[in-house]
Order: sequence, then C-alpha cells, then structure tokens
Amino acid sequence: MTSFFSFLLHMHSGLRWLMLIILLVAIYKSFTGYAGNKPFTKSDNTIRLLTVILTHLQLIVGLILYIQSPLVKYFWGDFGSAVKQEAPMFFGLFHFLFMLIAVVFITIGSAKTKRRNTDKEKFKTMRGWFLAALIIILLAIPWPYLPSAGRPLF
Ligand code: HEM
Repeated sequence: MTSFFSFLLHMHSGLRWLMLIILLVAIYKSFTGYAGNKPFTKSDNTIRLLTVILTHLQLIVGLILYIQSPLVKYFWGDFGSAVKQEAPMFFGLFHFLFMLIAVVFITIGSAKTKRRNTDKEKFKTMRGWFLAALIIILLAIPWPYLPSAGRPLF
C-alpha cells in the first residue's frame, strides 16, 4: 500500500465521523425547527452548507481511493471470481453505489432546501432528504463487525 493511498484511507475514515456528526446535527435541527415552528436561521443554513461541503470532500477522496484501491482493481480485473467475495464486492460495488446515492440525496436535499419559500418547508425538505441519506450511509459504512469488508472505527 503506497503512503498516499494509506493517507487518503485514513482521511476518508476520519471524515466519516465529521460527516456523520454534522449530518446528525442538521437532521436534529430540522426536526426541532419544524416541530417548534422556528425560523431557519443563518446557523441552520451554515450547517446545511457544511454538510454538503464535507460530503463532497468525502466523495472526492472516495473517488481517488476507488481508482487506486487494490481491492477495486481486483474487482474490475477479475470480475468473475471477485463477485463471489465479500470485500471486493463491498468496495467495488455496494459501498461505491450506495454512497454515491447518499451524496446525490444530500446535494438535491440541500439545493431544494435553499429554494423553499418558508422556514417550515426548508426544515421539512432538509429533514427528509438528509434522513434518507443518513440511513443509506449507515448501511454502506464498512463497520468492524462485517466479516471481511469490516474496517476499524478510526
Ligand atoms: C459519502 C460517504 C462515505 C463514507 C461515510 C465512507 C466511509 C468509508 C470508510 C469508513 C472506509 C474504510 C476506511 C478504512 O479502511 O479505514 C471507506 C473505504 C473506502 N471507500 Fe468510502 N465512504 C464514503 C463514500 C465513498 C465513495 C463515494 C467512494 C467511491 C467513489 C468510496 C470509496 C471507498 C474506497 C475505494 C474505500 C477503500 C477500499 C480499500 O480498502 O481498498 N467511499 N469508506
């Protein structure tokens, strides 16, 4: 493993936590904001923006890892036998596809939130799209309990 790859892998692993924290804050704020008829403040907007920025940063790092990963190279190089193995299947297809969908959800959700006219609509839109993205992300993270695709928490 090259040191560049290893550096990016660590960055990708750490960024997961920053992403999850900011995403959870955004979802929490949209639930309480909606229920309490609160105004969509500047800080709510900053949280929305930060969520998108961190998500896109994670996507860029993920794409570079995808091009460099020996597991992904094996997946595309020997597709026939790779589809029968958990780790290459997970990173070559499942992780990549699900995370891409989650990134699209966050991007669309954020753009739609920005365009909504009322504060209530803004909270509702952000809540729906971001919550859906969170569920997908939680499903596609290589948690340590996965037999061979599992990775450390940090
Ligand atoms: C957007 C949310 C994402 C999260 C939370 C996430 C999370 C993670 C985590 C925790 C790891 C394990 C890191 C380690 O081994 O320490 C990982 C590995 C990886 N991720 Fe992601 N990821 C995301 C998106 C993506 C995307 C969009 C791609 C591809 C375009 C991608 C490609 C990869 C690859 C190739 C690996 C490493 C496979 C290997 O070990 O060779 N990730 N990801």
